[in-house]
Amino acid sequence: MAPAKRGVAHNRHHQLKQLSGVVKRLFGTLSIAIIVLVLCTFFLLSSTTTYESPTTPSKISVENLWGTVASDGWRPSSAPRSHWPPPPNESNGYLRVRCNGGLNQQRSAICNAVLAARIMNATLVLPELDANSFWHDESGFQGIYDVERFINALRYDVRIVERIPEIRKNGKIKKIKAFQIRPPRDAPVSWYTTEALQKMKEHGAIYLTPFSHRLAEEIDIPEYQRLRCRVNYHALRFKPHIMKLSSSIVSKLRTQGHFMTIHLRFEMDMLSFAGCFDIFNPEEQRILKKYRKENFKDKDLKYSERRAIGKCPLTPEEVGLILRSMGFDNSTRIYLAAGELFGGERFMKPFRSMFPRLENHKTVDTSGELNENTQGLLGSAVDYMVCLLSDIFMPTYDGPSNFANNLMGHRQYYGFRTTLHPDRKALAPIFIDRENGKTAGFEEAVRHAMLKTNFGGPHKRVSPESFYTNSWPECFCQTVAKNPAHKCPPENVLQILENQMDNEGTINYVTHQEGKKVLSTVSAAETVAAQVEDASV
Ligand SMILES: *[C@@H]1O[C@H](CO)[C@@H](O)[C@H](O)[C@H]1NC(C)=O
Ligand SMILES: *[C@@H]1O[C@H](CO)[C@@H](O)[C@H](O)[C@H]1NC(C)=O
Ligand SMILES: *[C@@H]1O[C@H](CO)[C@@H](O)[C@H](O)[C@H]1NC(C)=O
Repeated sequence: MAPAKRGVAHNRHHQLKQLSGVVKRLFGTLSIAIIVLVLCTFFLLSSTTTYESPTTPSKISVENLWGTVASDGWRPSSAPRSHWPPPPNESNGYLRVRCNGGLNQQRSAICNAVLAARIMNATLVLPELDANSFWHDESGFQGIYDVERFINALRYDVRIVERIPEIRKNGKIKKIKAFQIRPPRDAPVSWYTTEALQKMKEHGAIYLTPFSHRLAEEIDIPEYQRLRCRVNYHALRFKPHIMKLSSSIVSKLRTQGHFMTIHLRFEMDMLSFAGCFDIFNPEEQRILKKYRKENFKDKDLKYSERRAIGKCPLTPEEVGLILRSMGFDNSTRIYLAAGELFGGERFMKPFRSMFPRLENHKTVDTSGELNENTQGLLGSAVDYMVCLLSDIFMPTYDGPSNFANNLMGHRQYYGFRTTLHPDRKALAPIFIDRENGKTAGFEEAVRHAMLKTNFGGPHKRVSPESFYTNSWPECFCQTVAKNPAHKCPPENVLQILENQMDNEGTINYVTHQEGKKVLSTVSAAETVAAQVEDASV
């Protein structure tokens, strides 16, 4: 399958038709309900799509970039395509995990935890989110994500409880004690079905900590990968107040037309991690080196070398030069998703002079809610949503499992929304030439490098690209498919799963309210009715 690149006009026209309902609404009164609707529509329905061969573009058209990328007949779909039995009645025990890292590292860890529980036939205890030193945020899963939706959306896949239950032992009531294990990095499926499972059966519960990157990303079982997508793109939804705040920011930005988001990762931790020091003054270098010494392994790093191999985050000026070379003019509206930019205004000035219409969540949000919690997960969650919904997204640095990587994957799944993903290694010599006075042909060379990127369309995943950055082809399907494995599942997939579950009897949901254990029995039919209602808001 050749990578599909930006298509010609008729291709785009076709795609616009395909997404017209969605797009029309997004440009209108954008609201949480719409987001829900769009995601559920992708999940539930098959659209009529014909196969069209990909076309390789020869030049960049800014006008086209504001639309979505040619999808070559692919659409997102993470419903099971083969027999997928409900979780068995008998659980092998409880699985507790502690997800470390920032918002997005935790997000992929949550997807891994659900899959691990499925693999082990275990009952998943709502993942614990580490309140780590960088984020200073103790909101936890309940503070960020919609718990009810999470449990409900995954009911065909795993049993999930909010807390580890109490047991009566020798007349006393106590919690099941989970046996603590430090899982190997990127552990294979077999580790979960042997070592971890054995301990779980022995102790009734295990506690995996730390839990980020603890399950291999490349797993050769497409149904497992699709479960990851169901978690990431359907079950995990931010809490209503976060969705509301995000959509109010997006609507404000939309009132003036399309807009671009840039994840400007020009922050102290990243610069010191990457070891890109030379562009800073001695005082700044001292700060970066100190931070590096305290947080990362000691290594002798030279900026020129680091940059030449594409290891340095783009500077704000470089970002501006790329955009201008591609044909974006100074009227382009840009929302910056970023923490505190290192080096401040000195580095921002050249960028601002090229693109003066800059916004960020503080300038758009007038409610003041974000001012109280900008460093925490709330600010990051709002930025995530705004970047997800923007017309164009541009990351400037992509480390493993971070904000930009997850967003690229999410935007691809959300309907091949344009991503400008600069190839820093290809661009470095072009920038270096320019700095050495060789300015002729600069813009042409940048355009050439950018044309070789895929703009977020369907493309083959090549290591080290992560599954969470590109879930094609597992989580996509074609109505007209050459390969039967890529064929879209039947429209009534939910009904099929539902019937399978009905045959297993009723589902028991254990919920906790103010510490009291409440056992509620919900029939599967009722929960599906609730979901359909949810989808048609
Ligand atoms: C999980 O349950 C299924 C039946 O639903 C069974 O085929 C599988 O072997 C079980 N796996 C483990 C690890 O217990
Ligand atoms: C954009 O650039 C044009 C010249 O190309 C200039 O006249 C105009 O003032 C600029 N607009 C802004 C907002 O800087
Ligand atoms: C699962 O449990 C339900 C009720 O507890 C029962 O009706 C059903 O037969 C069980 N299914 C299996 C496969 O054991």
